[in-house]
Amino acid sequence: MLQILACDKVSKTYPNGLEALKEVSFEVKKGEIHAIVGENGAGKSTLMNILFGMIKPSSGEIRFKNSLFSPKHPSEAIGLGIGMVHQHFKLVQSITVAENVVLGMENRFQNKMRKIDRAEMNRSVASLIEKLKMSISPDDKIENLPISKKQQVEILKVLYRDTDFIILDEPTAVLAPNEVEDFLEFVMEIQKMGKTVVFISHRLGEVFAIADRITILRRGTLVGTYEKKEVDRESIANMMIGTDTDLTEHPEDFLKEEVLLSVEGLVDISGVLRDLSFKLHAGEILGFAGVGGNGQEELFEVLAGNLKLSSGEMELRDSSLVQLDTLGRRRAGIAYITDDRMKKGLAPDRSIIENSMAGHHKFGSFGKALIDKSKARSFARSIITDYDVRTGKNLNTAVKALSGGNMQKLLVGREIAYNPAILVASQPTAGVDVAARKLIHDSFRKLSETGSGVILISGDLEEIMDLANRIIVLYRGRAVAEMSYPDYDTTEIGYYMTGIRG
Ligand SMILES: Nc1ncnc2c1ncn2[C@@H]1O[C@H](COP(=O)(O)OP(=O)(O)O)[C@@H](O)[C@H]1O
Ligand SMILES: [Mg+2]
Repeated sequence: MLQILACDKVSKTYPNGLEALKEVSFEVKKGEIHAIVGENGAGKSTLMNILFGMIKPSSGEIRFKNSLFSPKHPSEAIGLGIGMVHQHFKLVQSITVAENVVLGMENRFQNKMRKIDRAEMNRSVASLIEKLKMSISPDDKIENLPISKKQQVEILKVLYRDTDFIILDEPTAVLAPNEVEDFLEFVMEIQKMGKTVVFISHRLGEVFAIADRITILRRGTLVGTYEKKEVDRESIANMMIGTDTDLTEHPEDFLKEEVLLSVEGLVDISGVLRDLSFKLHAGEILGFAGVGGNGQEELFEVLAGNLKLSSGEMELRDSSLVQLDTLGRRRAGIAYITDDRMKKGLAPDRSIIENSMAGHHKFGSFGKALIDKSKARSFARSIITDYDVRTGKNLNTAVKALSGGNMQKLLVGREIAYNPAILVASQPTAGVDVAARKLIHDSFRKLSETGSGVILISGDLEEIMDLANRIIVLYRGRAVAEMSYPDYDTTEIGYYMTGIRG
């Protein structure tokens, strides 16, 4: 097969200094299904966004159809026959399937009166729907369709534009298990139409079902590209996750008998968590491992009181949390580090002082009616000192002026300042530098030393192995494996994370 795309030493460093891709070279052959696999944060979406003209590489060269290629905008990529279905769909909800599909190309269907000939537009879209054997109608409104059908519309939109190189960024993450098989068959149909497909997934069962070749990324570097025949699922899982984790740094055990939190049979109303049960002990750091999209976000939101349960029970020291809102849970002794410091954890436009005391003021820490400004300032100072937040002199500066690592340290410091019985932390070191990561890890250890429990939800397996006393692996909303320190086996965990075992 001829090569259609070749990347040569493509690197990307984001403005915040994070190196998402380091000299990645790989090629895609015309007509193949090429899978890209890697843990969360490996750089898969970054690489695809570069190919689709959404972001620019920092260095490196790309050739597409034998010409140098550096699209400045998706329209340029689309013009050359590249289409992409994103992890988060980009459809207009209030209009129909056909209207979404032809969006931007409506003038093809203008009649002499310069009016859109809707019948003609619908016929044109219907013929492609029929060719692809999809069960949707051009007249359906997007907002009335289930997710799997919305995804079909995204694909329809891509194929309608005479695309011959199709990027699917984690398409199966949003599908229910019973929908996946049909989807994979559909991808093979697209290949039979002569198209080239780049397929991103961390579920190795899916990858092995349809891919011709597999490229593995790990922490922004290329591990390799393999013919499916040359490798097996175990070896790919090892290359994705790595087996070089050093357990000698593991902290002392502060684990006690006492159960702080008892969670039984959780099912959330979105149906992602399916019968999840666990106990958190005093002094314990309990890690939830898994690739993203397997219930991690839902677990956090359920614990925070933002996502309702359809069944299950959660008790903090024998008293139920289920009826409490987030503030009530904070009062009961739970603190939260969200995975989205910019949108949920901090108020970026507010000052360092305001962000330090946010939440705490509701507990009357700075006076009852009026805020005692000097108390608030010294409270902020203590967090900044203890957590080495590099702020500059003026604490009235907006938080958004800080680097990502410093913002995160501020958030972590603020939450630990509650002296919580339980800290629930989601992706606490995503996108932060090495020094901030170490400081945050040390602060979790110190907290557990005082007898508090920590729930650590993280896509970074190394982080979990370094910190946790016990690891639960989440896969499709269930706890599929549980291991206690020191009996951690990266290879085994990798098998559970990627669905080889379960
Ligand atoms: N716009 C951005 N600014 C800064 N860092 C980013 C941005 N987008 C992604 N990253 C970081 O780049 C790394 C790779 O992310 P991504 O390409 O989304 O990985 P994947 O798709 O494999 O999960 C991650 O550490 C992520 O946090
Ligand atoms: Mg991604």
